[in-house]
Amino acid sequence: MSRIVVVSNRVPVPQGNAGQAGGLAVALLGLMQRRGGLWFGWSGAVTDAAAPPGLTQRGGVGYATIDLTEAEHRGYYTGYSNGVLWPMLHGLPHLMSFRRQDLDIYRKVNRRFADNLVPLLRRDDRIWVHDYHLLALPGALRQRGVLGATGFFLHVPFPAPDAAAVAPGIRGLVQDVLQADLLGFQTLADRDNFAATAVGFAGAARLAEDVLELGGRPVRLGVFPAEIAAPEFAATAAAQAATEPYQLLSRSLRGQALLLGVDRLDPTKGLPERLEAFRRVVARRTPRSLAMLQIAAPSREDVVAYRRLRQELDSAAGAINSEFGEPDWVPLRLLARPQTRDTVAGFMRQARVGVVTPLRDGMNLVAKEYVAAQDPADPGVLVLSRFAGAAAQLAAALLVNPHDAEGMAETICAALDMPLAERRARWRECWAAIAETSPEGWGENFLRALGPDDLARLPAA
Ligand code: G6P
Repeated sequence: MSRIVVVSNRVPVPQGNAGQAGGLAVALLGLMQRRGGLWFGWSGAVTDAAAPPGLTQRGGVGYATIDLTEAEHRGYYTGYSNGVLWPMLHGLPHLMSFRRQDLDIYRKVNRRFADNLVPLLRRDDRIWVHDYHLLALPGALRQRGVLGATGFFLHVPFPAPDAAAVAPGIRGLVQDVLQADLLGFQTLADRDNFAATAVGFAGAARLAEDVLELGGRPVRLGVFPAEIAAPEFAATAAAQAATEPYQLLSRSLRGQALLLGVDRLDPTKGLPERLEAFRRVVARRTPRSLAMLQIAAPSREDVVAYRRLRQELDSAAGAINSEFGEPDWVPLRLLARPQTRDTVAGFMRQARVGVVTPLRDGMNLVAKEYVAAQDPADPGVLVLSRFAGAAAQLAAALLVNPHDAEGMAETICAALDMPLAERRARWRECWAAIAETSPEGWGENFLRALGPDDLARLPAA
């Protein structure tokens, strides 16, 4: 069996510190620990010198990471990846902030990844590149003579061609990513949007539904929705009842129905819209009958839009509590601090309503985790944005349009009032969609589609 080399911007080298890993890390860690292999990417550190990769071996996985310089971090990570690509890919162009030098640095860092990775490669490695930070990497690897099987998976959505075209530089990046052998997407819509963009703006031809061609090279396209380990997450959630964080929250609620949101503090997550919907819910319900806990883990604080969002949320939360709070009750608890995964699992199990209402989301694994965390005998209700990739699988959730605050408020009230029989029926359907899947299965599906092990090869020296 050939070795798997995973390349991603963030590399979750296990170091025992608690926190909320992003969807990408959660999905990949299990697979890599089981298969072994090499994981290459950014160390998370910003230093002055461009040193060669640091290597660590943990739990069967080799980790090779490089630091970024201050200028690289600003241009590649903060600037182009999160200030241009992230908003464009999520269909929020008004949040884009483009500087030409950021695009140049983005490309330079992708080349630096390739320069540092190539010496670590073996002839029969299969390379799996992840996410929007590394769109130029498949092209950079080919330029350095790597001929082996190379796959790319996009964890975030891909918008329609006209929306993609607003990102300066996207044409070249689409051409670079087309140097991979297999491109994976979360949903059919993302795959088709990418294909239309590649044909419309990057000179590719669509040979079949799942095959593009550029410069005589075929590239396969596939749909691989990211998954969670649902039975494991369910067991973790059930085991939390005995823990202090669970009991403290439970005691503080004094029988109030809990609404829960768990997100990175990110403009795509629809948090101001969600708080507005919640404000309308509170206005309709009896004081002290419900409480909302919104965990909003700070994220990408160097990006202006994220800092503004923090202020906006603090202000909206304060307004709700000052308008509706009572001397002995506040409707909204907003926590801009990450909580551990286990603690969150316990909170999810206590929540009568899980509110997952991003404006746009590649998949949203929190939605799947909320379903997994429920007590099958007395499950809560998932209120889910129809613009999250997860909505394609969790059709039995209450689907909402996050731009419609009034509609969301009505749906949240319906969730609060939903009779047990309907809650059970909806939950069973959602559970059935995730119970048999796993992140390992997701990874294996992608690798199987990437092709047989023996195709991979490096050119003879
Ligand atoms: C999303 C992206 C990941 C990213 C994660 C956390 O899930 O798809 O690539 O790692 O957010 O964001 P961060 O900027 O902290 O890595």
